[in-house]
Amino acid sequence: MLLHTIKEVREQIHKWRKDELTVGLVPTMGALHAGHMSLIKKAKETCDRVVVSDFVNPIQFGPSEDFDKYPRTLDEDVKLCEKEGVDIVFAPSANEMYGEGQKLSNDNLTYVCPPFFYVNTLCGKSRTGHFDGVCTVVLKLFNIVQPDFAFFGQKDAQQVIIIKKMVRDLNVPITIVQCPIVREESGLALSSRNQYLTENGRQDALVLSKILHNIKSCYKRGITEVNALKETAYNFLTNKHDLEYLEIVDKNTLEDKIKADNESIALIACRVEGVRLIDNIYLGEE
Ligand code: PAJ
Repeated sequence: MLLHTIKEVREQIHKWRKDELTVGLVPTMGALHAGHMSLIKKAKETCDRVVVSDFVNPIQFGPSEDFDKYPRTLDEDVKLCEKEGVDIVFAPSANEMYGEGQKLSNDNLTYVCPPFFYVNTLCGKSRTGHFDGVCTVVLKLFNIVQPDFAFFGQKDAQQVIIIKKMVRDLNVPITIVQCPIVREESGLALSSRNQYLTENGRQDALVLSKILHNIKSCYKRGITEVNALKETAYNFLTNKHDLEYLEIVDKNTLEDKIKADNESIALIACRVEGVRLIDNIYLGEE
């Protein structure tokens, strides 16, 4: 069922609660692909009822980012969700979420601001205010749906770490379930932004996962110095790649390391054809 208002969602959830059904929430910005669908499948396995939110959240995009051109495919999204047995697709307008005619800025709205250490690194360095916008909308969705479980992808590793931190710090009574990255056979991590790439761009984009897999195999062969592992990336990068960051940090705390260990995660952000792509890999797991 496709719902656009908070009131309708609350009414439906209220009925489920009366019947003591468990509820799962999968927050998305739509343009659903197999990565999103893996979260939805996990939610279906875990919960009696599943809500998918489909909302391109204006307050998590910077002024020079792709808010206007971000793909919006609600009709197809709803069909995919129906096929998967999703109970509610919640697709609110910005007015519904933030109030009619509201100025969407932190001098006017209450924001959730994660700690500086978590946002002043990796993606947060180049995307000022991004994680404030993410946490704010996610907490709003949590308050609207009040799910038992909420599902997030490891694809956005920093995002899920920050959301877990928010849930802990603010005593949000929801279990966060983290789901693995879904990749194409080529290794490319699925992303709604892949559709901005040309065929050549998609080939060049394979370098992200190649760099990460190579770092992992070097680590497995016994190289642990973070600097040495990072240097292996330069064999792959060409003038088609505009590397924003490549870091190896603790997978739970994002703390820097000198030596990698089984708790480490390697993360990369790189522009290809001007499209900002991210990917990551756990070094410790098979
Ligand atoms: P969006 O980019 O649509 O992603 C929604 C969820 O799908 C996120 O938890 C993301 O990590 C997950 N996801 C995306 N690609 C994936 C892949 N290849 N494999 C596994 N999971 C994948 O992330 C957002 O939206 C927004 O920031 C949101 C949390 C909805 C707040 O607006």
